[in-house]
Parts: sequence; structure tokens; C-alpha cells
Amino acid sequence: MSEQSNSDAPILPTRRMLRRRLLAAIGSASLGTLSGCWSAGSSGCPSSPLVDQVAGTLADGAEACPPNPFYAADQFSDLVPAYCTPPAEDYWRDTGDPYWGGIQVTDVRLLRKLGDECRYELSCDYTPDCPGGRPIHRDGAPVLAEAVERPDWRASLTPNLSNLDEADRARLAAYWFRAASEEHSSIAGFNRLAMELLAHGAPPNLVQATLRAALDEVAHAQDAFALASAFTGQPLGPAGLPLGPQVELSKTLVELAVSTAREGAVGEALAAQLAASRLQRATDPAVRAVLERVAQEEAQHAELAWRILRWALEIGGAPVHTALSAVFDELAHSSPPTSVQPSELESHGMLGADADSLEVHQCIHRVLLPVAATLLATQRAA
Ligand SMILES: [Fe+2]
Ligand SMILES: [Fe+2]
Repeated sequence: MSEQSNSDAPILPTRRMLRRRLLAAIGSASLGTLSGCWSAGSSGCPSSPLVDQVAGTLADGAEACPPNPFYAADQFSDLVPAYCTPPAEDYWRDTGDPYWGGIQVTDVRLLRKLGDECRYELSCDYTPDCPGGRPIHRDGAPVLAEAVERPDWRASLTPNLSNLDEADRARLAAYWFRAASEEHSSIAGFNRLAMELLAHGAPPNLVQATLRAALDEVAHAQDAFALASAFTGQPLGPAGLPLGPQVELSKTLVELAVSTAREGAVGEALAAQLAASRLQRATDPAVRAVLERVAQEEAQHAELAWRILRWALEIGGAPVHTALSAVFDELAHSSPPTSVQPSELESHGMLGADADSLEVHQCIHRVLLPVAATLLATQRAA
């Protein structure tokens, strides 16, 4: 079970915060068109702070109620799990671990001992549990540069290498080089988007924000190349980005809306949440600095994408509405992983694929689909 530390936790972009920000980006203060949470089987959106109760019957030989039942489950003959919010229910039932699944138990208080029963009150909060960005794509695949030895793409960052053996360093180097390559490709992604916005007559604020986002991606790439270089022990940077002789732009507003939905509204929101998830578990200061910046700025990029979708719906009408509805319908069919194992390299920002998949699933169902439903309902009504 993961230890939690809250005292020095930074303010992170939680799912709840992200959802509020995306709703603001589309000009809606709340999920006014929905009743309850999007997730199937849930009974309503939780309020913050979340409070719930857990009770257990002491096992033979156990006398006193332990202060934290989750660290002393063997002292109970049963321990009825409590769920601070319904969507966590299935996950908790599968793993028995209250610290995963996007819900963090922030406080456990013994309420009373009644006979053999110990009853506790839990205070919980959502915790941010997606580096990456918006790589430029061709034929459905991201266009990524190969690695070359060069020092000029490295930011000035020095992660802690102690306690890492050669195999760990190699895994971390590969992991951070992939992240760096995606961030590097995202610079081109935003430059293409700026041209597409210009081609479709977008307002200046959207073009300006898009060009700023491209500069953010330069910094993200430099940070990630610095980490990859440190872990590999040699200065790594990108070779030329294999864009070919021409970069294809979207031909219609519908195409632009669809790519913005997939790569920005969804892709960058997930990138923000994955970075926040990694930040929550990372302990190395250099890695934390990188993840904090990525989490904040990818969330801003996601907001920009949702603003672009709203604009595209306003000027494109029904064809854009139909195309976006199809994109988000597809998204609703994602399924969560069945188990999540902690990664021994999470202190250096590397989570397992199953943890990332879980975060993606939760972000889709708790943030992106509700915001999409609100946007599509608002624009249909308009
Ligand atoms: Fe990025
Ligand atoms: Fe981004």
C-alpha cells in the first residue's frame, strides 16, 4: 500500500479542478445538463470534502480498535469498505487499496467502539493520479525524432541517480526520452494548429494561445531531454523531425474539430492528469519540477482545445456537432484495467502502464465525457 504524505503536497490540478476549468473554457459554470455523475452506476457527484464511514469487527485476540484500519486489516474479521464516492467502488473492491483509484483518504478518525465493532470516519479527496502532449501525427501515428547525442536541448536539471542501478537508469532514460520526443513533436503540432486556425478564420485570441502553447512545448521537451540525458549519462537531444516535404492541414472545419477533440481536448487533458498522477508519487525534486510544470501547462492546453471546439461548433453548426458527438461516443467505450501495481520507479516519475490506463479511464469518465456532454447540449440548444 502506498504511503500518503499531504503536509507538503503542492496544489495539484485534480480532476475536479480540471473539470471546472474545462467547463469555464466552454463558457459553462456547471454540468447543468446532467444529473449526477456520468459514470454508469454512480448515484450522484460527490461534494468536497468527502466524508464516509468504515466499520469492521475485531478478530479473535484483537482488543483495541487500531487507529487506522487500513494499516491493520489483519486485526479484523471483516472490514466493510467505505467509498467516498461511488465511482471508486469497483476499483477498491478489486484492490482493497484506498490510496489508488483517484480517491485519497486524507484522514481516518475512530468514531466509536461498540462491542466488537470499530467504526471510523474517513475524510477523502480526489487526488490527481497523463507527460506527453500533442504530437503531430501522420497517417494516424505520431511523428517523432530519433535520439542523437547533442547537449543543446537539455534544460539545467539534475535528478538524483543514487539508489538506481544500471537497469533502472536505462528504463528511466527510455521512458523520459519517449516523453521528450512527444513534447518535441508537440511543438510542430501546435504550429500546424495555428495555420489551420488561420485558414478557417479563427479569432486572434485562439491563434495567440496556440502559438504560446508551442513555446510551452519547447520547454517541456527541454526538461524531458534533460532527465533522459541524466539517466542515460550522455547528452541526448532530437535529430531532425521527419515531417517530410509537406505537412498536411485539415481541409474542413469538421476535420479541424475532430483532430482538436482527439489530440487536444482529450489528449492534452489526459497528459495533464497523467503528469499530476506522476507528480503525486514522485519524490525526486528535479522530476517533480518537470511534472509540476507539465501538469499545469497541459491543463491550459486542454482548456484551449475546448475553447476551439466551442468556436468550431458556433460557426460550423450541425456537421461539427455530429462529428464531435461521434468522437466522444467512441471515447465512452474505453474500459479500465483490472489491477494496478505500484511501480518501484515512481519516485522518478515513472508509473506502470496499468496505473496510467486507470488514470486515463477515470479522467475520461469523470471529466471529459461530462464536459463534452455539456458542450454538445449547450451548442445544440443555442
Ligand atoms: Fe507538453
Ligand atoms: Fe501540451
